[in-house]
Amino acid sequence: MKILVLGSGAREHAIVHSLNSELNAEGVPAHEIHAAPGNPGIGETATLHGIDANNPEAVVALAQEIAADLIMIGPEAPLVAGVADATRHAGFPTFGPSQEGARLEGSKAFAKEIMEAAGVPTAKPYVCTTLAHVEEAFDDFGAPYVVKDDGLAAGKGVVVTNDREAAYAHAADCFANRGQDGRVVIEEYLDGPEVSLFVVSDGATVRALAPAQDFKRVGNDDEGPNTGGMGAYSPLPWAPASLVQEVIDTIAQPTIDEMARRGTPFAGILYVGLALTSKGTRVVEFNARFGDPETQVVLARLQTPLSALLLAAAKGELADFPELQWHPQTAVTVVVASERYPDTPVTGDPIEGISAANALDGVHVLHAGTKIVDDVLVSSGGRVVSVVALGDDLDATRERVYQGVDAIGLRGSHHRTDIALKAARGEIKPATQS
Ligand code: AMP
Ligand code: GLY
Repeated sequence: MKILVLGSGAREHAIVHSLNSELNAEGVPAHEIHAAPGNPGIGETATLHGIDANNPEAVVALAQEIAADLIMIGPEAPLVAGVADATRHAGFPTFGPSQEGARLEGSKAFAKEIMEAAGVPTAKPYVCTTLAHVEEAFDDFGAPYVVKDDGLAAGKGVVVTNDREAAYAHAADCFANRGQDGRVVIEEYLDGPEVSLFVVSDGATVRALAPAQDFKRVGNDDEGPNTGGMGAYSPLPWAPASLVQEVIDTIAQPTIDEMARRGTPFAGILYVGLALTSKGTRVVEFNARFGDPETQVVLARLQTPLSALLLAAAKGELADFPELQWHPQTAVTVVVASERYPDTPVTGDPIEGISAANALDGVHVLHAGTKIVDDVLVSSGGRVVSVVALGDDLDATRERVYQGVDAIGLRGSHHRTDIALKAARGEIKPATQS
């Protein structure tokens, strides 16, 4: 197939890496892969196109030029901009929800409305339009305070804190920065470990991928501000075996059914962010796309050809799709971030050691914030590369992934050293149900 992948991060590199590992009878990659805009890592196996991936007309024109058989939309921005609507309208099988579907991620208030209509368990919200209303919500819930900008904020619009003044200040900032129509969501605090579960849907049928856990805070022991994600692992040895079916039955299928009932079927990835709380499984958030960095570990373990799964979802044929197959190994990824990420990342520094890391057994490096300047690979963003390792268990895989991270040279860079550590030590437990 000719496959066009939109996006430029490690998630998209992971997708291209998986697609490229599908070989034909002659043992060579089965697909012709195009990416827009892509990144230097993606460019090693795909043709890059320097178009604006958030512009529906530009994407349709590119899809026509290359005669794409499948379009895979990686990030939320093109979805929110209506790119999937435009490419579907132009007749291209497209993986990724419509603009209306992407509101499940683009508006926290809309997501709460759908969850309520579908009877999906989630944190109780107050959708506030004034600071007085915010104070009322704080009084009702007490600490810790959970304050969310209603609109898209790349994972950084959420503050969870015991400090009421800081919580209030964030709400005031959200209003000052307009929020989404000036709305701020205050939520009940959810205790218990978090899980990311990606559910593929064609608008009616759902198929869950393997659960993963990501690490959102910048520092070890979950210290410091939220980031886009500093690492992930999959599978989760501590998660109950019944979790995936429970999420399908009580969360994913009811949500997909509610979207279909409204005449706006959701086809693509429903990313279910969960907390396994003392009161049971709760939705923390929905996203309308694969998560980054969880995709890097989930796809590393997927044995079923990714192209076939994406195409079946794009064409509404998931009901007939065979059961997904997984490598039995464990996958861990660690993100190498640039100096001063997530505040004001320093960019433009040379990156060394990617080939050395790739040469390690069971290790591969995915590019995120990289670019080539005068034939030199340099950092161009906050999250620079995502080092991925596969191994027999969490201990062995952690050792491998950190060997890979140690091989990477980037002045001033930082990474967490405790990705998957608690899980490896058996220290994570779902909060007991009451
Ligand atoms: P979100 O953008 O909604 O995923 O929030 C980002 C992160 O903030 C989540 O992954 C959680 O770690 C944390 N968070 C969000 N909502 C809550 C909540 N209601 N209770 C506790 N933590 C939360
Ligand atoms: N890993 C969090 C996200 O992709 O939103």
